[in-house]
Amino acid sequence: MINARLTLDRDFTIDEVDQRIFGSFVEHMGRAVYSGIYEPEHGKADDMGFRRDVIDLVRELRVPIVRYPGGNFVSGYNWEDGVGPVEKRPKRLDLAWKSLEPNLVGTNEFVEWAKRVDSEPMLAVNLGTRGIDAARNLLEYCNHASGTYWSDLRRSHGYDDPHGVKVWCLGNEMDGPWQMGHKTAEEYARVAHETAKMMKLVDPKVELVVCGSSNAHMPTFPEWEARVLEECYEHVDYISLHSYYENADDDTGSFLARSLDMDKFIRSVVAICDYIKAKKRSNRTIHLSFDEWNVWNHSRWNREKGEIEPWSFAPSLIEDAYTLQDALLVGCLLITLLNHADRVKIACQAQLVNVIAPIMTEKGGAAWRQTIFYPFHHASRYGTGTVLRSAIHCPVYDTRDFGPVPLLEATAILDSSNGELTIFAVNRSQSDELSLECELRAISGVRILEHIVLDHGDRKAINTKENPDNVKPHNANGGKLDKNTLHVTLPRLSWNVIRMALGS
Ligand code: AHR
Repeated sequence: MINARLTLDRDFTIDEVDQRIFGSFVEHMGRAVYSGIYEPEHGKADDMGFRRDVIDLVRELRVPIVRYPGGNFVSGYNWEDGVGPVEKRPKRLDLAWKSLEPNLVGTNEFVEWAKRVDSEPMLAVNLGTRGIDAARNLLEYCNHASGTYWSDLRRSHGYDDPHGVKVWCLGNEMDGPWQMGHKTAEEYARVAHETAKMMKLVDPKVELVVCGSSNAHMPTFPEWEARVLEECYEHVDYISLHSYYENADDDTGSFLARSLDMDKFIRSVVAICDYIKAKKRSNRTIHLSFDEWNVWNHSRWNREKGEIEPWSFAPSLIEDAYTLQDALLVGCLLITLLNHADRVKIACQAQLVNVIAPIMTEKGGAAWRQTIFYPFHHASRYGTGTVLRSAIHCPVYDTRDFGPVPLLEATAILDSSNGELTIFAVNRSQSDELSLECELRAISGVRILEHIVLDHGDRKAINTKENPDNVKPHNANGGKLDKNTLHVTLPRLSWNVIRMALGS
């Protein structure tokens, strides 16, 4: 048994959680859209062809914002192809994923779908093969009420009311040589600046996300961020971060510590933003949009991508089956995002359905929850309120990639509006239970509501269509409160949610 101590004080806070950190991402890629969210021939399709079983699962997951339509896809996308009468929409080659894109779903359908899942759309504009003009036209089409060419075109397509899309991404991963219309930092900085300026002229209420690096290992990181922000600082609101993690050589100890990588990446980007802020003597603060993050078995994708039939419609692409240990890392990553609530205001798990996703579907068949569904669902549901600055004392274990790493990853959120205190915690130990003692300072009269645990005897256990509940959370008994100290046991390799009600 390992002993760990957590100290929480009501007055030591990080910031209020922006619920948009529990965002997700739907790209025109693989089966994310076609036979994912949309399948008119399915028995559970609604009046617009959206799968109701998927809508129910997305609602259950609770995703307040969804990024669309890409991703690499957006850098070759003509948004005009996806609006107006469906029978007149062109079929196109999607060069990002070598697929056929029939444009059966486009901006209006996605905005409507987002409403049906109680979410808000976050749209990306194409700054790869297109630019300022297409971006400002799309914004006018979406957000201007009426009386202009583009807004009246939207109305003629059956959408009288403007969509009021608030958050927009200025392209996608423009630093990546694989990106259609890839740009140098200088080239991107200029076009992003001018696009941002024009978009804010069309609708001053929009919030804009400028592209940061595709990941922290890009050779142009962190110069890219500094150069781009030098140019765009006064016109943008967020800078993007993307990062995917994998357990390529089955080193679970190092894998579960990959949240330290995310933490370091966030700290570095915050430092760059604030360096430029100081340099410009600006009063504005740029926040972070971690709008692609997840576990992605890249090695498998690199092996498989050569075998995919080019130009096929909705092929199965990167449909990773997630294990218990993947869910634990997702839990650690969510804790890391919460612990940066003061600067990370938007985050999107990539992606939502079928493509590296918490929700899987079978064409014409069932939909089910992957293991990673659960930590996300718990964090989004109970991670409301203010994140407390927790002090953690616990033993470490040795890892190849990070050296000594704490066995406990944890955060706590206090929600005065519903009178609840919630602790999210991962026990990284592969062999031992962890006995957690948590001192609650300036928090009195607390009572335990429940202790939810996600664990499994096999760290590689997955959920499948045949066995969708193989890995699922259960309630643990045995936590107790002794005056202001909580005592609770976290099973080895487990994700834990400890919910408490505050006294009056
Ligand atoms: O999410 C899959 C892909 O990963 C996205 O299209 C791209 O932005 C990233 O490289």
